[in-house]
Amino acid sequence: MADKKAQLIIEGAAPVELPVYSGTVGPDVIDVRSLGTSTGHFTFDPGFMSTASCESKITYIDGDQGILLHRGYPIEQLAEKSDYLETCYLLLNGELPTVEQKAKFVDTIKNHTIVHEQLKTFLNGFRRDAHPMAVMCGIVGALSAFYHDSLDINNAQHREISAHRLIAKMPTIAAMVYKYSMGQPLMYPRNDLNYAENFLHMMFNTPAEVKPISPVLAKAMDRIFILHADHEQNASTSTVRLAGSTGANPFACIAAGIAALWGPAHGGANEAVLTMLDEIGDVSNIEKFLAKAKDKNDPFKLMGFGHRVYKNFDPRAKVMKQTCDEVLGELGINDPQLELAMKLEEIALSDPYFAERNLYPNVDFYSGIILKAIGIPTSMFTVIFAMSRTVGWISHWKEMIASGQKIGRPRQLYTGPAKRDLTR
Ligand code: CMC
Repeated sequence: MADKKAQLIIEGAAPVELPVYSGTVGPDVIDVRSLGTSTGHFTFDPGFMSTASCESKITYIDGDQGILLHRGYPIEQLAEKSDYLETCYLLLNGELPTVEQKAKFVDTIKNHTIVHEQLKTFLNGFRRDAHPMAVMCGIVGALSAFYHDSLDINNAQHREISAHRLIAKMPTIAAMVYKYSMGQPLMYPRNDLNYAENFLHMMFNTPAEVKPISPVLAKAMDRIFILHADHEQNASTSTVRLAGSTGANPFACIAAGIAALWGPAHGGANEAVLTMLDEIGDVSNIEKFLAKAKDKNDPFKLMGFGHRVYKNFDPRAKVMKQTCDEVLGELGINDPQLELAMKLEEIALSDPYFAERNLYPNVDFYSGIILKAIGIPTSMFTVIFAMSRTVGWISHWKEMIASGQKIGRPRQLYTGPAKRDLTR
């Protein structure tokens, strides 16, 4: 399917022809796979600034136009007209479900929401003040020790069962981690509630008091799940693919993804936004912190601003801002930290440094604010990102296994010492 050819001229050698492929939309790619064997050269692209690591049919992003499509559908339309489980079905299977398919899928997920009782004893091994992401990494990795009846990655049915188990159990595990940190009894899932309601129930209700879940908050939670469901070949998804390319089981691969997501440059940003707002403290300090963000000798960055791919605006942030307004309105919140966030957004957006570099608030700027307003503690923010992204990770993992991709094994530009003898 090479549409064009590219010619590479390496000084002192004959020109090399490389196939160029076109996707459905987006930039063409030059296939350099034969370069090493045909010329003895490798390409050099740390940070994958110009490298497509795989072929995929799941998600498309145009960072300049601020477009995000899942299986072709714009994220704004999914956020408005779909719900999280339907979006999960779409990501996993390629098409939106029929009414019957959706009912069956929802039923299947509900059938898998309970986790093995023994996982509770595993949880007890962690300190109560452990970061929830540390506990998530451990528990999700440990799922492979509990559900080894479906770990044959070469069996399509096993792959599907693992995908369903992960999507169903992540909210239960996330809520368990939170309740454990609070010293409260763990709550079992309730299958009469929808996915978002059930999560909020397990987080905030106790056996002593079961309060109804606010539909506005459940809707906002569902939107947060949809908006974080997938994002093409980001760092954590690429980690899942790389781990999966070795033949590792899906639970181990998702645990690797969770670890990669934890970093503040990626999923840890929503937590970092709130930590930063704490540090700024007051509207009167905004100018001082903006100056720090602009100072190249200062490591401080404005968390929740900028994106590797979106250099215009983050389409998820637009929807998230609207949801943020709805939630703050519903809760009638008058929180000085939230006011500070809104002021920071306003001042940064009108600052030439941020305008020239196309640094806009990203999805995590607003999701952190919404989660705080709902009452979710800062340390749980990235856990919620991990829960939502699990469907994206597992969809990419399934796609990769089905495509028979080779083990991921990058090469390097070695600049260490050449061979030397140990003379003594
Ligand atoms: N505050 C201040 N300056 C910034 C920021 C920021 N948040 N982000 C980028 N810049 C500057 C950067 O210093 C550089 O300036 P110059 O051209 O003068 O050297 C310019 O903007 C381009 O930035 P970059 O570092 O080359 O961009 P990148 O694509 O490598 O990094 C990023 C993208 C998201 C890691 C970075 O913008 C950042 O660290 N942002 C804060 C963390 C954050 O909010 N991350 C969440 C991303 S959204 C969730 C997800 O999808 O994972």
